[in-house]
Amino acid sequence: MSTRVAVIGAGPSGLAQLRAFKSAQDKGGAIPEIVCFERQEDWGGIWNYTWRTGTDEYGEPVHCSMYRYLWSNGPKECLEFADYSFEEHFGKPIASYPPREVLFDYIQGRVEKCGVRPWCRFRSPVRHVDYSDDTGKFTVTVNDLKADTLYSEEFDNVVVASGHFSTPNVPQFEGFESFNGRILHSHDFRDALEFKDKDILIIGTSYSAEDIGSQCYKYGARSITCSYRTAPMGFHWPDNWQDVPILTRVEGKTAHFKDGSSKQVDAIILCTGYLHHFPFLTDDLRLQTDNRLWPLGLYKGVVWEKNPKLFYLGMQDQFYTFNMFDAQAWFVRDVILGRISLPSAEEMSKHSQAWRDREEKLEDDEQMIWFQGDYTQDLINDTDYPSFDVEGVNKTFMEWEHHKHDDIMGFRNNAYKSLMTGNMQPKHHTPWLEEMDDSMETYLGSK
Ligand SMILES: Cc1cc2nc3c(=O)[nH]c(=O)nc-3n(C[C@H](O)[C@H](O)[C@H](O)COP(=O)(O)OP(=O)(O)OC[C@H]3O[C@@H](n4cnc5c(N)ncnc54)[C@H](O)[C@@H]3O)c2cc1C
Ligand SMILES: NC(=O)c1ccc[n+]([C@@H]2O[C@H](COP(=O)([O-])OP(=O)(O)OC[C@H]3O[C@@H](n4cnc5c(N)ncnc54)[C@H](OP(=O)(O)O)[C@@H]3O)[C@@H](O)[C@H]2O)c1
Repeated sequence: MSTRVAVIGAGPSGLAQLRAFKSAQDKGGAIPEIVCFERQEDWGGIWNYTWRTGTDEYGEPVHCSMYRYLWSNGPKECLEFADYSFEEHFGKPIASYPPREVLFDYIQGRVEKCGVRPWCRFRSPVRHVDYSDDTGKFTVTVNDLKADTLYSEEFDNVVVASGHFSTPNVPQFEGFESFNGRILHSHDFRDALEFKDKDILIIGTSYSAEDIGSQCYKYGARSITCSYRTAPMGFHWPDNWQDVPILTRVEGKTAHFKDGSSKQVDAIILCTGYLHHFPFLTDDLRLQTDNRLWPLGLYKGVVWEKNPKLFYLGMQDQFYTFNMFDAQAWFVRDVILGRISLPSAEEMSKHSQAWRDREEKLEDDEQMIWFQGDYTQDLINDTDYPSFDVEGVNKTFMEWEHHKHDDIMGFRNNAYKSLMTGNMQPKHHTPWLEEMDDSMETYLGSK
Protein backbone atom coordinates (compact mmCIF):
# COMPACT_ATOMS: atom_id res chain seq x y z
CA MET A 1 0.00 0.00 0.00
CA SER A 2 1.23 3.50 -0.76
CA THR A 3 2.24 5.98 1.94
CA ARG A 4 -0.75 7.69 3.53
CA VAL A 5 -0.92 11.02 5.35
CA ALA A 6 -3.84 12.09 7.55
CA VAL A 7 -4.43 15.82 8.01
CA ILE A 8 -6.76 16.67 10.90
CA GLY A 9 -8.66 19.88 10.18
CA ALA A 10 -9.33 21.86 7.00
CA GLY A 11 -8.79 25.37 8.37
CA PRO A 12 -6.11 27.67 6.97
CA SER A 13 -3.36 25.40 8.41
CA GLY A 14 -4.74 22.10 7.11
CA LEU A 15 -5.47 23.70 3.74
CA ALA A 16 -1.88 24.98 3.61
CA GLN A 17 -0.79 21.35 3.98
CA LEU A 18 -3.02 20.24 1.10
CA ARG A 19 -1.75 23.11 -1.05
CA ALA A 20 1.87 22.23 -0.23
CA PHE A 21 1.47 18.63 -1.42
CA LYS A 22 -0.49 19.70 -4.49
CA SER A 23 2.24 22.15 -5.40
CA ALA A 24 4.86 19.36 -5.23
CA GLN A 25 2.62 17.15 -7.39
CA ASP A 26 2.11 19.94 -9.93
CA LYS A 27 5.88 20.15 -10.29
CA GLY A 28 5.97 16.48 -11.23
CA GLY A 29 6.84 15.00 -7.83
CA ALA A 30 5.28 11.83 -6.42
CA ILE A 31 3.19 12.48 -3.32
CA PRO A 32 1.53 10.20 -0.75
CA GLU A 33 -2.21 9.67 -0.53
CA ILE A 34 -3.58 12.60 1.51
CA VAL A 35 -6.80 12.38 3.53
CA CYS A 36 -8.01 15.50 5.31
CA PHE A 37 -10.59 14.89 8.03
CA GLU A 38 -12.78 17.88 8.84
CA ARG A 39 -15.45 18.01 11.53
CA GLN A 40 -17.44 20.82 9.91
CA GLU A 41 -19.61 20.72 6.79
CA ASP A 42 -17.10 22.83 4.86
CA TRP A 43 -13.51 24.01 4.95
CA GLY A 44 -12.12 27.34 6.21
CA GLY A 45 -11.77 26.51 9.92
CA ILE A 46 -12.67 29.34 12.24
CA TRP A 47 -13.45 31.49 9.17
CA ASN A 48 -16.38 29.23 8.31
CA TYR A 49 -18.96 31.36 10.10
CA THR A 50 -22.05 30.01 11.79
CA TRP A 51 -24.75 31.68 13.86
CA ARG A 52 -24.73 28.60 16.10
CA THR A 53 -23.13 28.48 19.53
CA GLY A 54 -22.76 25.51 21.89
CA THR A 55 -23.27 22.32 19.93
CA ASP A 56 -24.28 21.88 16.31
CA GLU A 57 -26.94 19.75 14.65
CA TYR A 58 -24.84 16.60 15.20
CA GLY A 59 -24.08 17.40 18.84
CA GLU A 60 -20.51 18.45 17.99
CA PRO A 61 -18.96 21.48 19.70
CA VAL A 62 -19.32 24.53 17.43
CA HIS A 63 -15.81 25.37 16.19
CA CYS A 64 -16.45 28.96 15.06
CA SER A 65 -15.23 31.74 17.39
CA MET A 66 -15.96 34.50 14.90
CA TYR A 67 -18.84 36.96 14.91
CA ARG A 68 -20.84 39.19 12.61
CA TYR A 69 -19.08 42.39 11.57
CA LEU A 70 -15.62 40.90 12.32
CA TRP A 71 -12.96 42.58 10.22
CA SER A 72 -9.35 41.50 10.01
CA ASN A 73 -7.51 42.84 13.03
CA GLY A 74 -4.19 43.07 11.17
CA PRO A 75 -3.31 44.26 7.66
CA LYS A 76 -4.04 41.63 5.02
CA GLU A 77 -0.61 42.46 3.56
CA CYS A 78 0.90 40.62 6.56
CA LEU A 79 -0.95 37.36 5.96
CA GLU A 80 -0.97 37.27 2.13
CA PHE A 81 -0.08 33.91 0.55
CA ALA A 82 3.19 34.13 -1.37
CA ASP A 83 1.81 31.90 -4.14
CA TYR A 84 -1.66 33.47 -4.45
CA SER A 85 -2.00 37.22 -4.02
CA PHE A 86 -5.15 39.14 -3.15
CA GLU A 87 -4.86 40.81 -6.53
CA GLU A 88 -4.87 37.45 -8.29
CA HIS A 89 -7.97 36.42 -6.34
CA PHE A 90 -10.00 39.64 -6.54
CA GLY A 91 -8.63 40.88 -9.85
CA LYS A 92 -7.58 44.24 -8.36
CA PRO A 93 -5.97 45.74 -5.26
CA ILE A 94 -8.40 45.93 -2.32
CA ALA A 95 -8.35 47.71 1.05
CA SER A 96 -6.16 46.40 3.85
CA TYR A 97 -8.51 45.21 6.64
CA PRO A 98 -11.12 42.99 4.97
CA PRO A 99 -14.21 41.74 6.78
CA ARG A 100 -14.44 38.02 7.56
CA GLU A 101 -16.44 37.10 4.42
CA VAL A 102 -13.78 38.61 2.15
CA LEU A 103 -10.93 36.71 3.84
CA PHE A 104 -12.93 33.48 3.79
CA ASP A 105 -13.40 33.93 0.05
CA TYR A 106 -9.65 34.47 -0.40
CA ILE A 107 -8.72 31.37 1.65
CA GLN A 108 -11.10 29.27 -0.41
CA GLY A 109 -9.97 30.70 -3.74
CA ARG A 110 -6.54 29.13 -3.61
CA VAL A 111 -7.68 25.64 -2.68
CA GLU A 112 -10.62 25.66 -5.08
CA LYS A 113 -8.18 26.61 -7.84
CA CYS A 114 -5.74 23.81 -7.09
CA GLY A 115 -8.49 21.21 -6.84
CA VAL A 116 -7.86 19.55 -3.47
CA ARG A 117 -11.47 19.30 -2.30
CA PRO A 118 -11.61 15.57 -3.19
CA TRP A 119 -8.91 14.96 -0.56
CA CYS A 120 -11.27 16.18 2.19
CA ARG A 121 -13.79 14.14 4.13
CA PHE A 122 -16.23 16.59 5.71
CA ARG A 123 -18.40 15.95 8.73
CA SER A 124 -15.65 13.57 9.85
CA PRO A 125 -14.32 14.39 13.32
CA VAL A 126 -11.26 12.40 14.35
CA ARG A 127 -12.04 10.66 17.62
CA HIS A 128 -8.77 8.91 18.36
CA VAL A 129 -5.21 8.58 17.11
CA ASP A 130 -2.74 6.05 18.36
CA TYR A 131 0.64 4.87 17.21
CA SER A 132 1.93 1.31 17.07
CA ASP A 133 5.64 0.70 17.53
CA ASP A 134 5.12 -2.73 15.93
CA THR A 135 3.67 -1.52 12.63
CA GLY A 136 5.21 1.97 12.69
CA LYS A 137 1.81 3.34 11.74
CA PHE A 138 -0.94 5.46 13.23
CA THR A 139 -4.49 4.22 13.58
CA VAL A 140 -6.91 7.10 13.08
CA THR A 141 -10.48 6.54 14.26
CA VAL A 142 -13.06 8.76 12.65
CA ASN A 143 -16.76 9.42 13.12
CA ASP A 144 -18.69 9.69 9.87
CA LEU A 145 -21.42 11.94 11.24
CA LYS A 146 -23.75 11.63 8.28
CA ALA A 147 -23.62 7.83 8.20
CA ASP A 148 -23.47 7.75 12.01
CA THR A 149 -20.62 5.24 11.92
CA LEU A 150 -17.16 4.95 13.41
CA TYR A 151 -14.25 3.54 11.39
CA SER A 152 -10.47 3.31 11.62
CA GLU A 153 -7.74 3.57 9.01
CA GLU A 154 -3.95 3.35 9.11
CA PHE A 155 -1.60 6.20 8.20
CA ASP A 156 2.16 6.65 8.01
CA ASN A 157 2.00 10.29 9.11
CA VAL A 158 -0.48 12.47 10.92
CA VAL A 159 -0.62 16.28 10.72
CA VAL A 160 -2.65 17.90 13.49
CA ALA A 161 -4.16 21.14 12.19
CA SER A 162 -7.19 21.36 14.44
CA GLY A 163 -6.63 24.96 15.63
CA HIS A 164 -6.38 26.30 19.17
CA PHE A 165 -8.81 29.21 19.31
CA SER A 166 -12.01 27.26 19.69
CA THR A 167 -12.18 25.60 23.13
CA PRO A 168 -12.80 28.50 25.54
CA ASN A 169 -10.83 29.10 28.73
CA VAL A 170 -13.61 29.98 31.16
CA PRO A 171 -12.58 31.25 34.60
CA GLN A 172 -15.04 31.47 37.48
CA PHE A 173 -15.53 34.59 39.58
CA GLU A 174 -17.40 34.82 42.90
CA GLY A 175 -21.08 35.63 42.46
CA PHE A 176 -21.33 34.52 38.82
CA GLU A 177 -24.00 31.94 39.66
CA SER A 178 -26.37 34.66 40.88
CA PHE A 179 -25.45 37.46 38.40
CA ASN A 180 -28.63 39.11 37.10
CA GLY A 181 -27.47 39.47 33.52
CA ARG A 182 -25.80 37.56 30.73
CA ILE A 183 -22.35 35.95 31.06
CA LEU A 184 -20.69 34.62 27.94
CA HIS A 185 -17.24 33.75 26.60
CA SER A 186 -15.96 35.49 23.46
CA HIS A 187 -16.25 32.10 21.68
CA ASP A 188 -20.05 32.50 21.91
CA PHE A 189 -20.19 36.21 21.01
CA ARG A 190 -21.99 36.63 17.69
CA ASP A 191 -23.66 40.05 17.33
CA ALA A 192 -22.70 43.34 18.98
CA LEU A 193 -26.24 44.68 18.48
CA GLU A 194 -27.30 42.44 21.36
CA PHE A 195 -25.41 44.86 23.62
CA LYS A 196 -26.76 48.14 22.19
CA ASP A 197 -27.61 50.54 25.05
CA LYS A 198 -26.12 48.11 27.61
CA ASP A 199 -23.32 48.49 30.12
CA ILE A 200 -20.87 45.71 29.43
CA LEU A 201 -17.92 44.34 31.36
CA ILE A 202 -15.09 42.73 29.45
CA ILE A 203 -12.56 40.50 31.20
CA GLY A 204 -9.17 40.22 29.45
CA THR A 205 -6.86 42.55 27.56
CA SER A 206 -5.87 40.76 24.40
CA TYR A 207 -7.26 40.80 20.86
CA SER A 208 -10.73 39.48 21.68
CA ALA A 209 -11.15 42.05 24.45
CA GLU A 210 -9.96 44.86 22.23
CA ASP A 211 -12.06 43.89 19.23
CA ILE A 212 -15.27 42.82 20.98
CA GLY A 213 -15.16 45.98 23.10
CA SER A 214 -14.66 48.04 19.93
CA GLN A 215 -17.52 46.21 18.18
CA CYS A 216 -19.84 46.90 21.09
CA TYR A 217 -18.79 50.57 21.09
CA LYS A 218 -19.39 50.80 17.34
CA TYR A 219 -22.84 49.23 17.56
CA GLY A 220 -24.03 51.41 20.44
CA ALA A 221 -23.16 49.90 23.85
CA ARG A 222 -23.78 52.50 26.60
CA SER A 223 -20.46 51.82 28.36
CA ILE A 224 -17.53 49.43 28.16
CA THR A 225 -15.60 48.52 31.29
CA CYS A 226 -12.51 46.46 30.67
CA SER A 227 -11.01 44.49 33.55
CA TYR A 228 -7.32 43.58 33.40
CA ARG A 229 -5.41 40.92 35.31
CA THR A 230 -1.89 41.99 34.30
CA ALA A 231 -2.03 45.47 32.73
CA PRO A 232 -4.51 47.63 30.78
CA MET A 233 -4.24 47.67 26.99
CA GLY A 234 -2.99 51.24 26.89
CA PHE A 235 -4.97 52.57 23.92
CA HIS A 236 -6.77 55.93 23.79
CA TRP A 237 -10.31 54.69 24.30
CA PRO A 238 -13.53 56.64 23.72
CA ASP A 239 -15.06 58.48 26.70
CA ASN A 240 -17.51 55.71 27.63
CA TRP A 241 -14.70 53.12 27.94
CA GLN A 242 -12.79 52.63 31.18
CA ASP A 243 -10.04 50.25 32.28
CA VAL A 244 -10.31 48.72 35.75
CA PRO A 245 -8.23 46.14 37.65
CA ILE A 246 -9.33 42.53 37.89
CA LEU A 247 -12.87 41.61 38.90
CA THR A 248 -13.06 40.26 42.45
CA ARG A 249 -16.77 39.44 42.79
CA VAL A 250 -20.23 40.12 41.46
CA GLU A 251 -23.30 40.91 43.55
CA GLY A 252 -26.61 41.16 41.74
CA LYS A 253 -25.64 43.33 38.76
CA THR A 254 -22.75 45.05 40.52
CA ALA A 255 -19.21 44.10 39.59
CA HIS A 256 -16.51 44.79 42.20
CA PHE A 257 -12.86 45.29 41.25
CA LYS A 258 -9.54 44.82 43.01
CA ASP A 259 -9.04 48.56 43.64
CA GLY A 260 -12.35 48.72 45.57
CA SER A 261 -14.27 50.37 42.72
CA SER A 262 -17.52 48.93 41.39
CA LYS A 263 -19.80 49.23 38.37
CA GLN A 264 -23.34 48.12 37.57
CA VAL A 265 -23.29 46.05 34.36
CA ASP A 266 -25.82 44.23 32.16
CA ALA A 267 -23.46 41.66 30.63
CA ILE A 268 -20.05 40.14 31.24
CA ILE A 269 -18.01 38.97 28.27
CA LEU A 270 -15.10 36.72 29.17
CA CYS A 271 -12.37 37.45 26.62
CA THR A 272 -10.10 35.09 28.47
CA GLY A 273 -8.59 33.12 25.62
CA TYR A 274 -8.64 29.49 24.58
CA LEU A 275 -7.22 26.07 25.48
CA HIS A 276 -5.04 23.85 23.33
CA HIS A 277 -7.41 20.92 23.38
CA PHE A 278 -6.74 17.59 21.65
CA PRO A 279 -9.16 15.04 23.13
CA PHE A 280 -8.35 12.64 20.26
CA LEU A 281 -4.65 12.23 21.06
CA THR A 282 -2.96 9.83 23.48
CA ASP A 283 -0.70 11.42 26.12
CA ASP A 284 2.52 10.52 24.31
CA LEU A 285 1.34 12.32 21.16
CA ARG A 286 -0.41 15.28 22.77
CA LEU A 287 0.98 18.82 22.80
CA GLN A 288 0.37 20.45 26.17
CA THR A 289 0.97 24.17 26.16
CA ASP A 290 -0.43 27.58 26.92
CA ASN A 291 -0.88 30.16 24.16
CA ARG A 292 2.64 31.35 23.36
CA LEU A 293 5.06 31.95 20.51
CA TRP A 294 7.24 28.91 21.21
CA PRO A 295 5.49 25.80 22.60
CA LEU A 296 8.12 23.21 23.55
CA GLY A 297 8.29 19.73 22.07
CA LEU A 298 8.00 20.86 18.44
CA TYR A 299 11.17 20.93 16.37
CA LYS A 300 11.00 23.90 14.00
CA GLY A 301 7.63 24.59 15.60
CA VAL A 302 6.03 21.65 13.78
CA VAL A 303 7.72 18.24 14.25
CA TRP A 304 6.60 16.30 17.34
CA GLU A 305 9.99 15.50 18.81
CA LYS A 306 8.79 12.42 20.71
CA ASN A 307 7.53 10.86 17.46
CA PRO A 308 8.67 12.73 14.35
CA LYS A 309 6.08 11.04 12.15
CA LEU A 310 3.55 13.33 13.81
CA PHE A 311 3.31 17.04 13.03
CA TYR A 312 1.43 20.05 14.31
CA LEU A 313 0.58 23.19 12.33
CA GLY A 314 -0.36 26.63 13.61
CA MET A 315 0.01 25.86 17.31
CA GLN A 316 1.88 29.07 18.14
CA ASP A 317 0.27 32.30 19.26
CA GLN A 318 -0.13 34.26 16.07
CA PHE A 319 0.97 37.58 14.66
CA TYR A 320 1.88 35.85 11.41
CA THR A 321 -0.90 33.59 10.17
CA PHE A 322 -1.61 32.31 6.66
CA ASN A 323 1.87 32.67 5.17
CA MET A 324 3.45 31.24 8.35
CA PHE A 325 1.10 28.23 8.14
CA ASP A 326 2.27 27.85 4.53
CA ALA A 327 5.93 27.98 5.56
CA GLN A 328 5.20 25.31 8.18
CA ALA A 329 3.22 23.13 5.79
CA TRP A 330 5.91 23.24 3.10
CA PHE A 331 8.49 22.21 5.71
CA VAL A 332 6.31 19.34 6.99
CA ARG A 333 5.69 18.21 3.40
CA ASP A 334 9.41 18.08 2.71
CA VAL A 335 10.11 16.07 5.87
CA ILE A 336 7.40 13.59 4.83
CA LEU A 337 8.76 13.44 1.28
CA GLY A 338 12.25 12.77 2.64
CA ARG A 339 13.61 15.99 1.13
CA ILE A 340 14.54 17.28 4.60
CA SER A 341 16.18 14.94 7.07
CA LEU A 342 15.72 15.45 10.77
CA PRO A 343 18.51 15.61 13.33
CA SER A 344 18.59 13.34 16.40
CA ALA A 345 15.93 13.73 19.11
CA GLU A 346 18.51 15.35 21.34
CA GLU A 347 19.50 17.91 18.72
CA MET A 348 15.87 18.69 17.92
CA SER A 349 15.11 19.41 21.54
CA LYS A 350 18.26 21.53 21.94
CA HIS A 351 17.25 23.52 18.88
CA SER A 352 13.72 24.10 20.25
CA GLN A 353 15.09 25.10 23.63
CA ALA A 354 17.26 27.76 22.00
CA TRP A 355 14.15 29.30 20.36
CA ARG A 356 12.31 29.07 23.69
CA ASP A 357 15.20 30.82 25.49
CA ARG A 358 14.99 33.62 22.96
CA GLU A 359 11.18 33.77 23.25
CA GLU A 360 11.42 34.18 27.02
CA LYS A 361 13.52 37.32 26.62
CA LEU A 362 11.00 39.09 24.37
CA GLU A 363 9.71 42.24 26.01
CA ASP A 364 7.01 43.67 23.77
CA ASP A 365 4.82 43.06 20.73
CA GLU A 366 7.37 44.54 18.34
CA GLN A 367 10.06 42.08 19.46
CA MET A 368 7.53 39.25 19.25
CA ILE A 369 6.72 40.15 15.65
CA TRP A 370 10.40 40.14 14.65
CA PHE A 371 10.79 36.78 16.42
CA GLN A 372 7.90 35.24 14.51
CA GLY A 373 9.18 36.81 11.29
CA ASP A 374 12.60 35.21 11.86
CA TYR A 375 10.93 31.87 12.51
CA THR A 376 8.90 32.11 9.31
CA GLN A 377 11.99 33.10 7.32
CA ASP A 378 13.93 30.19 8.82
CA LEU A 379 11.31 27.73 7.54
CA ILE A 380 11.08 29.34 4.11
CA ASN A 381 14.86 29.04 3.70
CA ASP A 382 14.48 25.24 3.90
CA THR A 383 11.86 24.74 1.16
CA ASP A 384 10.70 25.95 -2.25
CA TYR A 385 7.88 28.05 -0.76
CA PRO A 386 8.10 31.30 -2.76
CA SER A 387 10.40 33.61 -0.88
CA PHE A 388 8.88 36.95 0.15
CA ASP A 389 9.92 40.10 1.94
CA VAL A 390 9.53 39.00 5.58
CA GLU A 391 11.30 42.12 6.79
CA GLY A 392 8.75 44.17 4.84
CA VAL A 393 5.94 42.23 6.58
CA ASN A 394 7.54 42.97 9.97
CA LYS A 395 7.70 46.66 9.09
CA THR A 396 4.04 46.64 8.05
CA PHE A 397 3.22 45.09 11.42
CA MET A 398 5.19 47.94 13.08
CA GLU A 399 3.11 50.50 11.16
CA TRP A 400 -0.05 48.66 12.23
CA GLU A 401 1.02 48.86 15.89
CA HIS A 402 1.64 52.57 15.55
CA HIS A 403 -1.66 53.16 13.78
CA LYS A 404 -3.47 51.36 16.62
CA HIS A 405 -1.80 53.52 19.22
CA ASP A 406 -2.61 56.66 17.23
CA ASP A 407 -6.29 55.82 16.82
CA ILE A 408 -7.70 52.51 18.04
CA MET A 409 -11.11 53.15 16.44
CA GLY A 410 -9.60 54.31 13.17
CA PHE A 411 -6.56 52.13 12.48
CA ARG A 412 -8.51 50.10 9.92
CA ASN A 413 -8.79 53.21 7.74
CA ASN A 414 -5.12 52.85 6.76
CA ALA A 415 -3.72 51.07 3.71
CA TYR A 416 -0.39 49.36 3.05
CA LYS A 417 1.70 48.10 0.17
CA SER A 418 1.44 44.44 -0.84
CA LEU A 419 4.73 42.68 -0.18
CA MET A 420 3.80 40.09 -2.82
CA THR A 421 2.91 42.37 -5.75
CA GLY A 422 4.60 45.61 -4.69
CA ASN A 423 1.38 47.55 -5.31
CA MET A 424 -0.01 50.08 -2.85
CA GLN A 425 -3.50 49.02 -1.76
CA PRO A 426 -6.40 51.52 -1.67
CA LYS A 427 -7.99 52.88 1.49
CA HIS A 428 -11.49 51.62 2.25
CA HIS A 429 -14.18 53.95 0.91
CA THR A 430 -15.85 54.40 4.33
CA PRO A 431 -14.25 54.86 7.77
CA TRP A 432 -14.54 51.63 9.80
CA LEU A 433 -16.52 53.27 12.58
CA GLU A 434 -19.18 54.42 10.13
CA GLU A 435 -19.25 51.28 7.99
CA MET A 436 -22.11 49.16 9.35
CA ASP A 437 -22.27 46.94 6.27
CA ASP A 438 -19.55 44.28 6.28
CA SER A 439 -20.72 42.38 3.19
CA MET A 440 -18.18 41.40 0.55
CA GLU A 441 -20.21 43.21 -2.10
CA THR A 442 -19.99 46.52 -0.24
CA TYR A 443 -16.35 46.04 0.71
CA LEU A 444 -15.27 45.37 -2.85
CA GLY A 445 -17.61 47.90 -4.45
CA SER A 446 -16.72 51.50 -5.08
CA LYS A 447 -20.01 52.74 -3.55
C1 LIG B 1 -12.12 35.50 16.88
C2 LIG B 1 -10.89 35.27 16.06
C3 LIG B 1 -10.55 36.16 15.07
C4 LIG B 1 -9.40 35.98 14.32
N1 LIG B 1 -9.10 36.93 13.38
C5 LIG B 1 -7.99 36.79 12.64
C6 LIG B 1 -7.64 37.77 11.67
O1 LIG B 1 -8.32 38.78 11.53
N2 LIG B 1 -6.55 37.58 10.90
C7 LIG B 1 -5.79 36.45 11.05
O2 LIG B 1 -4.83 36.30 10.31
N3 LIG B 1 -6.08 35.52 11.98
C8 LIG B 1 -7.15 35.67 12.78
N4 LIG B 1 -7.45 34.73 13.73
C9 LIG B 1 -6.48 33.63 13.98
C10 LIG B 1 -6.88 32.25 13.41
O3 LIG B 1 -6.37 31.37 14.37
C11 LIG B 1 -6.23 31.95 12.06
O4 LIG B 1 -6.60 32.93 11.11
C12 LIG B 1 -6.61 30.59 11.47
O5 LIG B 1 -8.00 30.40 11.42
C13 LIG B 1 -5.95 29.41 12.14
O6 LIG B 1 -6.11 28.32 11.28
P1 LIG B 1 -6.04 26.80 11.75
O7 LIG B 1 -6.31 25.99 10.55
O8 LIG B 1 -4.78 26.57 12.48
O9 LIG B 1 -7.20 26.63 12.82
P2 LIG B 1 -8.79 26.77 12.63
O10 LIG B 1 -9.13 27.89 11.75
O11 LIG B 1 -9.32 26.77 14.01
O12 LIG B 1 -9.22 25.42 11.89
C14 LIG B 1 -9.14 24.16 12.52
C15 LIG B 1 -10.06 23.18 11.81
O13 LIG B 1 -9.90 21.88 12.42
C16 LIG B 1 -11.18 21.26 12.53
N5 LIG B 1 -11.14 20.26 13.61
C17 LIG B 1 -10.94 20.50 14.93
N6 LIG B 1 -10.95 19.32 15.61
C18 LIG B 1 -11.14 18.35 14.69
C19 LIG B 1 -11.24 16.92 14.76
N7 LIG B 1 -11.13 16.27 15.93
N8 LIG B 1 -11.46 16.24 13.64
C20 LIG B 1 -11.56 16.88 12.43
N9 LIG B 1 -11.48 18.23 12.31
C21 LIG B 1 -11.27 18.94 13.42
C22 LIG B 1 -12.11 22.42 12.82
O14 LIG B 1 -13.46 22.09 12.50
C23 LIG B 1 -11.54 23.53 11.93
O15 LIG B 1 -12.12 23.53 10.65
C24 LIG B 1 -8.58 34.86 14.53
C25 LIG B 1 -8.93 33.95 15.52
C26 LIG B 1 -10.07 34.15 16.28
C27 LIG B 1 -10.42 33.17 17.36
N1 LIG C 1 -9.98 39.62 13.68
C1 LIG C 1 -10.16 40.09 14.86
O1 LIG C 1 -10.50 41.20 14.95
C2 LIG C 1 -9.96 39.26 16.11
C3 LIG C 1 -10.84 39.41 17.14
C4 LIG C 1 -10.70 38.64 18.28
C5 LIG C 1 -9.66 37.71 18.38
N2 LIG C 1 -8.79 37.57 17.36
C6 LIG C 1 -7.72 36.56 17.44
O2 LIG C 1 -8.09 35.54 18.35
C7 LIG C 1 -6.94 34.97 18.95
C8 LIG C 1 -7.17 34.79 20.43
O3 LIG C 1 -7.20 36.04 21.12
P1 LIG C 1 -7.86 36.15 22.57
O4 LIG C 1 -7.82 37.57 22.94
O5 LIG C 1 -9.17 35.46 22.57
O6 LIG C 1 -6.92 35.26 23.51
P2 LIG C 1 -5.44 35.53 24.08
O7 LIG C 1 -4.67 36.38 23.16
O8 LIG C 1 -4.89 34.22 24.47
O9 LIG C 1 -5.68 36.40 25.40
C9 LIG C 1 -6.28 35.91 26.54
C10 LIG C 1 -6.57 37.05 27.51
O10 LIG C 1 -7.32 36.53 28.60
C11 LIG C 1 -6.77 36.96 29.81
N3 LIG C 1 -7.07 35.96 30.84
C12 LIG C 1 -6.93 34.61 30.77
N4 LIG C 1 -7.36 34.04 31.92
C13 LIG C 1 -7.77 35.04 32.72
C14 LIG C 1 -8.33 35.09 34.02
N5 LIG C 1 -8.51 33.97 34.74
N6 LIG C 1 -8.65 36.29 34.54
C15 LIG C 1 -8.45 37.41 33.82
N7 LIG C 1 -7.94 37.45 32.58
C16 LIG C 1 -7.60 36.27 32.04
C17 LIG C 1 -5.29 37.13 29.52
O11 LIG C 1 -4.76 38.01 30.47
P3 LIG C 1 -3.22 38.09 30.90
O12 LIG C 1 -2.60 39.00 29.88
O13 LIG C 1 -3.28 38.69 32.25
O14 LIG C 1 -2.67 36.70 30.86
C18 LIG C 1 -5.34 37.71 28.10
O15 LIG C 1 -5.54 39.11 28.16
C19 LIG C 1 -5.78 35.89 18.56
O16 LIG C 1 -5.03 35.27 17.54
C20 LIG C 1 -6.45 37.12 17.98
O17 LIG C 1 -5.68 37.74 16.96
C21 LIG C 1 -8.92 38.35 16.23
